[in-house]
Amino acid sequence: MTQARKGATDVDAVVLVGGKGTRLRPLTLSAPKPMLPTAGVPFLEHLLSRIRAAGMTHVVLGTSYKAETFTEYFGDGSAHGLEIEYVVEDSPLGTGGAIRNVADRLRHDTAMIFNGDILSGVDLGDLLSTHRRTSADVTLHLVKVADPRAFGSVPTGKDGRVQAFLEKTNSPPTDQINAGCYVFSRAALEDIPAGQVVSVERETFPGLLAAGARVFGHVDSTYWLDLGTPAAFVRGSADLVLGTAPTAALPGPTGASLVLPGATVADDAILTAGTTIGAGASVAAGAHVTQSVVFADAQIGAGARVENSVIGAGARIGADAIVVDAVIGDGAVVGDRCELLSGVRVWPGVQLPDGGVRFSADA
Ligand code: GDD
Ligand code: MG
Repeated sequence: MTQARKGATDVDAVVLVGGKGTRLRPLTLSAPKPMLPTAGVPFLEHLLSRIRAAGMTHVVLGTSYKAETFTEYFGDGSAHGLEIEYVVEDSPLGTGGAIRNVADRLRHDTAMIFNGDILSGVDLGDLLSTHRRTSADVTLHLVKVADPRAFGSVPTGKDGRVQAFLEKTNSPPTDQINAGCYVFSRAALEDIPAGQVVSVERETFPGLLAAGARVFGHVDSTYWLDLGTPAAFVRGSADLVLGTAPTAALPGPTGASLVLPGATVADDAILTAGTTIGAGASVAAGAHVTQSVVFADAQIGAGARVENSVIGAGARIGADAIVVDAVIGDGAVVGDRCELLSGVRVWPGVQLPDGGVRFSADA
């Protein structure tokens, strides 16, 4: 057998970016999840940098929710060394429907499909080699996680052949899960029914298995994270800044923090654990911002403590406020000495008066 070739130049990349990102609201009210600034650039830019590095140059984005935001930012892709096409679903077709919907844009016999919210260190060339070595119809990137219930559980046999696909069940048979990246042969992709809502996880994969198709797993244990929740989003962004998560799109050196051009940070402010400070944002004296994402033009007041949180564009955090495990919407105002903890979400434009919200009784 000839050695499978490394490098994915004869493969189309397809990225699914049509979801509404509900678990990241209110951030996703104004931008779709893959466009949220993550370590200084829209998240999708990190994923595209990995696709480009693997040798793929033709990318099709399956869009739906706020489709225009992708076209406006990425255009024809040439600025990123890519040729990007867009296929818009007027109403969402589901993951399988979205994959089928791009069939007429494919140029090769093999397509690599990506969920648009995954940060991963898997070697895409190795994934492709597994696909070719096994002569698979479909090959799935698989990872092991501590709690598989929120994912697709995918048991495999000794030869790596997929035995079942169980999407989001309470008692998954294995902690080995669908990592949200697949290699499809063109024939398998064209077998998905066209023009209708289809779930790749609940319909296509179980259907392929029932029909005896060759579906294989490629298990990988490098970095992997789904950025679908606020906690995962801040961790993913921080890992990119720290250099723990792989990207070729970080707009600066890796380190404890990333401060974008046009931001101002007081000399005695402290930025730690992979914090990003967006363009035009400011951090005042004595503030401590740790493992957080501060979007453009936000203001962090003197002595404030911001931890594991996302601060929306143009939002203002008052002096001596404490913001931990929080999502603060665009343009919201958190008054001086407020204390916001434990997953609280403040909607865009909401104004909390000075001392107006506390978790503890010592205000
Ligand atoms: N174009 C399009 N149309 N894209 C969609 C649609 C749609 O109708 N629905 C979802 N998407 C995109 C989302 O934008 C996202 O990039 C991707 O498909 C996956 O959707 P999520 O909403 O993030 O799914 P999940 O995280 O709950 O579960 C999926 O990912 C897990 C890995 O993180 C499943 O594939 C699981 O099996 C998997 O384990
Ligand atoms: Mg997801």
